[in-house]
Amino acid sequence: MKRILLTGAAGYIASHTWLSLRAAGFEVLGVDNFANSSPLVLDRLQQLLGEAPRFERIDVCDTVALGALLRREPVDAVVHFAAHKAVGESTQQPLAYYRNNLLGLISTCEAMRETGCSRIVFSSSATVYGVPERLPIREDAPTSSVNPYGATKLIGEQILRDLGAADPQWQTACLRYFNPVGAHESGLIGEDPRGVPNNLMPYVAQVAVGRRERLQVFGGDYDTVDGTGVRDYIHVVDLADGHVAALNRLLAQEGSFTVNLGTGRGYSVLELVRAYAEASGREIPYEIVERRPGDVAACYADPSEAERLLGWRARHDLARMCADSWRWQSLNPIGFNAP
Ligand SMILES: NC(=O)c1ccc[n+]([C@@H]2O[C@H](COP(=O)([O-])OP(=O)(O)OC[C@H]3O[C@@H](n4cnc5c(N)ncnc54)[C@H](O)[C@@H]3O)[C@@H](O)[C@H]2O)c1
Repeated sequence: MKRILLTGAAGYIASHTWLSLRAAGFEVLGVDNFANSSPLVLDRLQQLLGEAPRFERIDVCDTVALGALLRREPVDAVVHFAAHKAVGESTQQPLAYYRNNLLGLISTCEAMRETGCSRIVFSSSATVYGVPERLPIREDAPTSSVNPYGATKLIGEQILRDLGAADPQWQTACLRYFNPVGAHESGLIGEDPRGVPNNLMPYVAQVAVGRRERLQVFGGDYDTVDGTGVRDYIHVVDLADGHVAALNRLLAQEGSFTVNLGTGRGYSVLELVRAYAEASGREIPYEIVERRPGDVAACYADPSEAERLLGWRARHDLARMCADSWRWQSLNPIGFNAP
C-alpha cells in the first residue's frame, strides 16, 4: 500500500483529500500546526474513516521535525497543502506569507530529499494567471503575481521546476485550483474560516445561517451575464479526487506536470446566490457595492489537460456544491467551534 504525507492535513481541502485517498486505498499520514484549522477536524475524520487518523502536530518550516517523521515513517509522495491563503492579509503581512509559504515548501522538499522521497504534489492556484487575457484559461497562458499570496504560488511552482531540472529524480505536480467550495456530503467536515470569510460561498453560507446580515457584492457593472464577477467553482470532493488522480499518475509514470483543476464553467455571483438560496431555503440579502481593486470580471479554467493527463474531470454541479455547503453550515453554524 502506498503511503502519502499530507501537510496542512487538518485544513479544508486536505481533510477532504484524506478521505478520497483512503477510499482509493492509500495509507495517509498528516501534519499540521493548526495555524488555520482545529484539532476537532481529526475527531471528525476518525468518525468518517472508522479509524484514528495518523497525525503529528508539526510546523512544516521545522525541517528537523519533518525529517525525523519521514525517517520513522517513509512515504511514497507528499501532498503539500500547508500555506497561508488569504489574499488580502498577504498584502498586509507579506513577510509572514513569504516566510510560511516559501520556507514551508523549501523545508518540506529538504526533509523529503534527506529521506529519499522525491514525489510532490503542490497546491497552486488560478491566481498565478493574474489578469487573464483569454478565457477559458489554459495552462500555457501567461502568469503573473498580483499580490504576495499569488507570488508565493508562482515562486513555489518555480522552485519545483528548478528542483526537477537539477535532479530528474524529482517528480512534481502543480495543481492550479480554481474556486474550491462545498463540503463532504456527511456534513461533518467543511470550510471553517476564521473571522470574516474571504471567499464568496462561505460568506453566503454565513448569511444564510444568520451569522451575517447581508452579502456585499463587489461590482455590478462587469461585462458578464448579469454584471457581477464570474468564477469557476469546483466541489471540494472533485478537487480531492483530482489529487488522487495526480498521485496515481506520479506513482505510475516518470515526469512532472502542471494542470488546472476547475470545471470549465463559470457562474456569476448572483447565479451562485440564487442557487444557494434554493439549496438552503433561506433568503440571501445582498447589496451591490463598488468593484474591489484587483478583481477580474471573469475567470474560468480550460480543464481538458487534467482530463487528458489524469483521466480526471469534475462531476458535481453548482446545486450540489450549494447543498453540501449548506448541510455543513447548518449542522455546524459556528464551524468547529460548535459545542
Ligand atoms: N481554498 C482556496 O480557495 C484555495 C485556492 C487555491 C489554492 N489553495 C491552496 O490550497 C492549500 C489548502 O488550502 P485550504 O483552503 O485547504 O486552506 P486551509 O487554511 O484550510 O488549510 C491549510 C492548512 O495548512 C496549515 N498550515 C499553514 N501553515 C502551516 C505550517 N507552517 N505548518 C503546518 N501546517 C500549516 C493550516 O493550519 C491549515 O490547516 C493552500 O496551499 C492554499 O493556498 C486554496
